[in-house]
Amino acid sequence: MSLFRTKSVERSIAETDEPDHRLRKDLSAWDLTVFGVGVMIGTGIFVLTGQEAYRSAGPAIVISFVLAGIACALAAVCYAEFASTVPVAGSAYTFSYATLGELIAWIIGWDLVLELALGAAVVARGWSAYLQSLLDLPTWLAGDAARPDFGAIAIVVALTALGVLGTKLSGRFTSVLVVVKVAVVLFVVVAGLFFIKASNLTPFVPPSKPSSGESGLDSTLLQTVFGVEPTVFGIYGIIAAASVVFFAFIGFDIVATSAEETRNPQRDMPRGILGSLAIVTVLYAAVAFVVTGMLKYSDDRMNTAAPLAEAFSANGLEWASKIISVGAVAGLTTVVLVLMLGQARVLFAMSRDGLLPQGLAKVHPRFGTPYKITIITGAFVAVLAGFVPLSELSKLVSIGTLFAFVVVSAGVIVLRRTRPDLDRSFRVPGVPLVPILAIAACVWLMVNLSVETWLRFLVWMVLGVGLYVVYGRSHSRLGRDQAAGKA
Ligand code: ALA
Repeated sequence: MSLFRTKSVERSIAETDEPDHRLRKDLSAWDLTVFGVGVMIGTGIFVLTGQEAYRSAGPAIVISFVLAGIACALAAVCYAEFASTVPVAGSAYTFSYATLGELIAWIIGWDLVLELALGAAVVARGWSAYLQSLLDLPTWLAGDAARPDFGAIAIVVALTALGVLGTKLSGRFTSVLVVVKVAVVLFVVVAGLFFIKASNLTPFVPPSKPSSGESGLDSTLLQTVFGVEPTVFGIYGIIAAASVVFFAFIGFDIVATSAEETRNPQRDMPRGILGSLAIVTVLYAAVAFVVTGMLKYSDDRMNTAAPLAEAFSANGLEWASKIISVGAVAGLTTVVLVLMLGQARVLFAMSRDGLLPQGLAKVHPRFGTPYKITIITGAFVAVLAGFVPLSELSKLVSIGTLFAFVVVSAGVIVLRRTRPDLDRSFRVPGVPLVPILAIAACVWLMVNLSVETWLRFLVWMVLGVGLYVVYGRSHSRLGRDQAAGKA
């Protein structure tokens, strides 16, 4: 039974007040919205839009964004209910501990490393490439076969230092960069409108055709299970692209990891989460429409690392493409920062619970931040970003995130049954239908990812369960308290 021991919501909340482990509470709904927008707008919109239009969806990529956005909105309302009910650092990890038990909680915490640390490393690489092209730096600075990616390491180290100095400070820094990137995204939409050609947008849904050169491991799990020949474009292409551009929405859930540092989480969490998601969904759909209107989806320039900038160059607007690169560098900076902050908060919660060494959960006496865990996170992400080839790993980030969404959505149904008495300032409408739809939508996006991604995901999860058996199970604070008859 001990594998399924749950930690009560009251206990979770009470522990946040222990003097050594107390985080400073000074974030508002506005800070949370900026955080959400800050972490979401990144590689997804700046890079994947063009690539997926080219490879899989054509101009209908705008529909892929809307589909992914709907799946996220369903999961987001579940996160909003949880974060307003259990305002404790750790997000999906904490929620699972309160509902589905310690083993699942550990699995989720472990799974979130894929979203947060790996996600930060993937985006840090992208940052380095954009900076290198913007400033015409020597290409080796962004890494090659023989050398680590110095740019990626530098940004991770700098942002780690910021994370140690204070959440509010990181919040201010984020606000400035978020203004820059939102301005650039709006610029793309408004300036681009004048260059849309109807001929680029037809056919809107290119006819489906067999995909070329994909090995068995590259085809999606769904196609493999049903033995369907892999295809691109058509309706199926739109859905497959939705699974990939889902990456662009990753991050709204991280807003929930800051619940414990929010002044009025019951009111501000739902506002921050749903508000930022609504803003980016509109921006993404607009960008996708404009960019595919400016440059034909089948043009090779769509399939590069900077398709937005290319769309402007292709229309003779070189200067505009520079502006977009500035926006991308600013934009990706905040993505890396917030992903790392989120990772530190999740690991903080896990060590406070004793599933990782408890000494790691120490808060800095002056800065009020979990500095030890922040530095460890930074070192880990720097090594990943600097030395590990990551190009294919963004899908691993997506599958990890989707898995967490599934568990959180299931947790909402469970907590309504087990603790109907709790004060929920935000309630998911139509339980259990909405959480069930959220689960179905996320599973659907997951099965449309490649078999290779699934295999990597399973290997990571098996490792995690092994670690729990060896360490967490016996060191759990809850487990020890229960054994001593204190909980
Ligand atoms: N949503 C973030 C991005 O697109 C992770 O970069």
